[in-house]
Amino acid sequence: MLLNVTNRTLFHGDNLPFLRGINSNTIHLIATDPPFNKGRDFHATPDSLAAGARFEDRWSWDNDVHQDWVDQIQDDWPAVWAVIDAARVAAGEDMAAYLCWLGVRLLEMYRVLRDDGSIYLHIDHTAQAWVKALMDAIFGRKHFRNEIAWCYTGPQRALRHFPRKHDTILFYSLPDATFNRDAVRVPSKWNELGGFSDPDVIRKNKGKVPEDWWHMTFGPNTRERVGYPTQKPLAVYERIIKASSNEGDFVLDPFCGCATTPIAAERLGRQWVGIDIWDKAHQTVIDRLQKEGLAGPEGASDRLMTFGQIGYSTVPPIRSDDGDTAAPILKTKQKRINEPPGPKMTRKQMVDILIEESGMHCAGCDRAFDDPLYLQLDHKTPRAEGGLNHISNRMLLCGPCNQIKSDKLTLNGLRAENQKRGRMARSA
Ligand SMILES: C[S@@+](CC[C@H](N)C(=O)[O-])C[C@H]1O[C@@H](n2cnc3c(N)ncnc32)[C@H](O)[C@@H]1O
Repeated sequence: MLLNVTNRTLFHGDNLPFLRGINSNTIHLIATDPPFNKGRDFHATPDSLAAGARFEDRWSWDNDVHQDWVDQIQDDWPAVWAVIDAARVAAGEDMAAYLCWLGVRLLEMYRVLRDDGSIYLHIDHTAQAWVKALMDAIFGRKHFRNEIAWCYTGPQRALRHFPRKHDTILFYSLPDATFNRDAVRVPSKWNELGGFSDPDVIRKNKGKVPEDWWHMTFGPNTRERVGYPTQKPLAVYERIIKASSNEGDFVLDPFCGCATTPIAAERLGRQWVGIDIWDKAHQTVIDRLQKEGLAGPEGASDRLMTFGQIGYSTVPPIRSDDGDTAAPILKTKQKRINEPPGPKMTRKQMVDILIEESGMHCAGCDRAFDDPLYLQLDHKTPRAEGGLNHISNRMLLCGPCNQIKSDKLTLNGLRAENQKRGRMARSA
């Protein structure tokens, strides 16, 4: 739990290398709002603090997915791959590309989250169902807590459906995570309406913990708006931070946009790190903190944080724990798996070498095939048992053998099982 990032730092760039540089098991709370896969670009309001800001929210397999992400997910996260593959079939390749792009980042978020940490992921109807499945596969369905509907109003020309006026915030937390019920209570309706006249009852009533739908918004002219196209209200992120962290805890937002999470964290006395690919995010944090009366130029006041205290870097942190650079499969409970040194082979390279060495046959049942399409790359000793991704631990299996083996049997176990079932090609 050795923290290797500094409070009040804004990292500028694609968040993946920055996330990969953060030590495992160090962050108390991740509250983040990634692109939603809307299939369009977003632009800031001209003349606003965020003028000129723009980000693309469209994805394609060819342009946005790297083979090493696919390899990592296929090797270590079969359930995540199953979600991506199902999305490809049911929702199309663009959705699968988006999920792969987001998934590889969520794997890092899972790794950096402490064992008592929480994550809130803001999403909308476009990809919500798929992202929920992705989060279940990564963070564990048993750690799912809420699907919070963040509701708002406003005009929408909807001719064939009801106006879409809520986003979803997926909330997962690990078993010992903080949940400060009392910090987020709101007046109960009967109390607001004076439903009880006994002053003792009213005094004792602490209000209620808000339900899983939140109607919190800002009007078009509120002070906090900076014109950033997808800015979210501070009130939403303050509620999240109050509920799921304590003063001094570390909050991370890897898609921080115009810095709503960092500002909310600063207001509540939490430490924070923000990451965004937008080049004005750092200046926006400074401007917003100044507007909030939380920061000022050097010498302005002894009580204020100075602009110089807000770190900025385009260079990812370097991990000082002894972790593997790839996401480990099951965090701390997993045996550490050290791959032999040297460049990592892609899955395709390994398939080619194995075919060249042993021909196109299944290592589980000895059947021969005339097309490599019938063969799948797998581990001789499963990853869950400490098996390496290295070629020395790889083999080719046909589909039925792969299913029988799943991630439970070793190659020897699979062959013994095939013998028992009379499935071996030569014994047939
Ligand atoms: C929905 S907005 C976040 C808005 C934020 N919650 C706020 O209140 O301003 C998504 C953000 O993700 C950023 N982004 C997109 N791809 C990114 C990447 N690969 N790495 C870091 N940031 C990225 C965009 O620049 C954008 O600011």
